[in-house]
Amino acid sequence: MAGVAKQFLWGAASAAYQVEGGWQDGGRGLCKWDIYTNEERITEKVVGVQHTGNVAINTQDRAQYLKDIGLMRDLGLDAYRFSLSWPRILPEGTGQVNGEGVDYYSRFVDDLLAAGITPLVTLYHWDFPAGLFADGGWHNRASIDWFRDYAAVVFDALGDRVRHFITMNEPFIDIFYMDLIAENMRAGRSEPYRFTSEQYGRQAPAMHNLLLANAETVAEFRRRGQEGMIGIALPLYPTVTLDPEKPANVAAAKLTDGLINRWPLDAVFKGTYPQDAIAALQAENPDFVVPEADMATIRANPVDFLGVNFYSPALVRHDPAGPLGIDRDANPDAIKSFNGPVRPEALHDLLIRIRDEFGNPPVMITENGAGFGDGDEVRDGDLIRDPHRADYIRRHAEATLRARQEGCDIRGYMVWSLFDNFEWIQGYTRRFGMVHVDFDTQERTPKQSFFLYRDLIARHHRDAAPG
Ligand code: BGC
Repeated sequence: MAGVAKQFLWGAASAAYQVEGGWQDGGRGLCKWDIYTNEERITEKVVGVQHTGNVAINTQDRAQYLKDIGLMRDLGLDAYRFSLSWPRILPEGTGQVNGEGVDYYSRFVDDLLAAGITPLVTLYHWDFPAGLFADGGWHNRASIDWFRDYAAVVFDALGDRVRHFITMNEPFIDIFYMDLIAENMRAGRSEPYRFTSEQYGRQAPAMHNLLLANAETVAEFRRRGQEGMIGIALPLYPTVTLDPEKPANVAAAKLTDGLINRWPLDAVFKGTYPQDAIAALQAENPDFVVPEADMATIRANPVDFLGVNFYSPALVRHDPAGPLGIDRDANPDAIKSFNGPVRPEALHDLLIRIRDEFGNPPVMITENGAGFGDGDEVRDGDLIRDPHRADYIRRHAEATLRARQEGCDIRGYMVWSLFDNFEWIQGYTRRFGMVHVDFDTQERTPKQSFFLYRDLIARHHRDAAPG
């Protein structure tokens, strides 16, 4: 972990497919989301509007992103987390490197550094190269080599300047959520979010290959004596058992914790898999076997830091019709955030759990944020009022700092997101930004949460200043 200062980084996060656009520009190849949106018309099928990331918020255009970096400076960001489009760098996902794509990211890194902003680079935020996805994606064991080789190209290109790499973003959501929604829509099913135990069992080997690819990439990073740190960003959902007097609900919550939280956490820190979750998946898919040699590879390559993506706890009950008997969708809040009930204390408790159960690793909050719908996006003269988002960010930043005071080794906090952008299945119908984007004109307008976060960062910078 050479070359990383222990300074706490205040930042914001984004992902390539959600912001870049330029889907066929600059030699970029296609990713699975280009197919999901353009060919399979997934957003149209789920939310009734045909949206794609073809243009998104146009950050592939340097003139645009330089203005955006201006806003980051105005906000006072120490760090900006963004992801690379794998097929912008390797149009086919493997083989020929696209020099123009590499140059684009290299220049973006230089432009951030020139503005005094630390780049945090995610290698994979769900945009699997389309051709390789058709060849099985993470289901194909060759994906381990594909990914490691892609990572090596990135380390060659950016490793002299970037000190924080994140291998993957939210494997569980990619494999057990987004791909299953896509599958349901392709199959013409009426309920996009209704998954089966059979589907979960079938996806399990893909998750295993991804975790192996993560381990092999960490090994590659170390083999090169690369400076800096490498981590993974996990979607962590502390579980709350609904009606806990029913044993089946307690069991469902424990299994949910095993699947979503313990599986990747145990893998990247302890080199083990939780037996309860693995057994439940194997019961559905007897072909899902975990060779000891694979576990040895995973054990030998723990990550340097953990990226925590936290939105809400998961409220769980048993549902015989749910995948593996789990139902985790209820949100009892009167004012509902899109990504679940607002519970900042659950973030605090999660951070304490990571400190106590996983050896107090360096942690970065790599995503935290919220969207509440039109009622929290209200134009008032020049201002856009989003008091619920502002309050959400303030309370979660406080929960983070409280855990830090209690000894958690937390290195930073990134809001999701700086800008409104392409919200996957929901297209442009859900906003998460501290900056409003007019998707027709690309005009940016800071919201109330932007000013709240600016004040919060400024206050902390003052408090942290020497003397
Ligand atoms: C994802 C982001 C997404 C955000 C808000 C996270 O799970 O990593 O890409 O936009 O949630 O829904």
